[in-house]
Amino acid sequence: IRRRTIFSGIQPTGIPHLGNYLGALQQWAKIQNESALDATLLFCIVDLHAITVPQDPVALRESRRQMLASLMAVGLDPQRSILFYQSSVPAHAELMWILSCQASVGYLSRMTQWKSKIGVADSASLSDPASRKKLKLGLFSYPVLQTADIVLYGATHVPVGADQAQHIEFARECANSFNHVYGPVLALPQTILSPAKRVMSLAKPSAKMSKSDPDPKSRILISDSPETISAKLRAALTDSVPGDVSYDTAARPGVSNLLEILWHLSPEGTYEGIEDVVKDCQGLSLRAFKEKVAGVAEVHLRPIRKSYEEAYKKEEGRALDEVEKNGAERARAVAAKTMVDVKQAMGL
Ligand code: ADP
Ligand code: NA
Repeated sequence: IRRRTIFSGIQPTGIPHLGNYLGALQQWAKIQNESALDATLLFCIVDLHAITVPQDPVALRESRRQMLASLMAVGLDPQRSILFYQSSVPAHAELMWILSCQASVGYLSRMTQWKSKIGVADSASLSDPASRKKLKLGLFSYPVLQTADIVLYGATHVPVGADQAQHIEFARECANSFNHVYGPVLALPQTILSPAKRVMSLAKPSAKMSKSDPDPKSRILISDSPETISAKLRAALTDSVPGDVSYDTAARPGVSNLLEILWHLSPEGTYEGIEDVVKDCQGLSLRAFKEKVAGVAEVHLRPIRKSYEEAYKKEEGRALDEVEKNGAERARAVAAKTMVDVKQAMGL
């Protein structure tokens, strides 16, 4: 039986918001804590993916460190999980080139994510010269780098949100065509779908909570102080429907989003389901309801905020750099084995 190897990545987007936390990072910590001791766990801060769109160098460097401190703050233990920056392991880029020689341009052009990033509705509009000019090769081939990230470690399982499922399917296909040509060298990864928890913006609850929203009140960060959490929730857009709170994502998106947040940030087992949450909030004014959500969020995030501050500031960050250096070293050792097999099979 093959050992389980779990790999996932997140872009260095600075301090995560509640959407990143409930949609990805909380799940990673859970996977770590429930994994058999012989499973290999790798969580990578994918800075090479980040540069597919323009980045300010100073801000990028800072964002990587904030994300690393955040991974530790949510409970990823660098003894148990290999935490590292993608660019610290040159084999990601090397294997990407090799896989590029197998990857199908036709398959890549059907990926929905880069199309939405460059703002074209369908591949037909790519015959428009203006769209073609905007399209960077790196953004187009992003899924090939993602394939390299995964197969480099022989990952058997990749926890991702539903939006990434298409890319993992591509990775399987791409690794499979490599194996078809050169023999069974690469492990084909399986997707572990995150239980869908789409957190919506506090300011505009029809859109998902996102760091790209220019309004900082639209999202709660895992490092927010109790005062900031309360202020953001007090300002959250709800509605003027009279009577008790109720769950109706179409008619009452703001209230429904806060009910979801309350549910998922409450201690496990507090509620059986969303109806249970609604029942618990009967008789509360909207103001009191928001205060209740703020209280629960504050209690949940308090230890995370504390350990974020500790991880980030300790010895002016030298401890953080040490964690990364150590993680990268372990990652390079796993990667090197795969590269030997890959090159051997290819005659390189
Ligand atoms: P952002 O939208 O803030 O740029 P990313 O696209 O960098 O966030 O997403 C990082 C991870 O967080 C992904 O796994 C993504 O699925 C998850 N995620 C981001 N926003 C949300 C959200 N509002 N609700 C649930 N999960 C989210
Ligand atoms: Na995004």
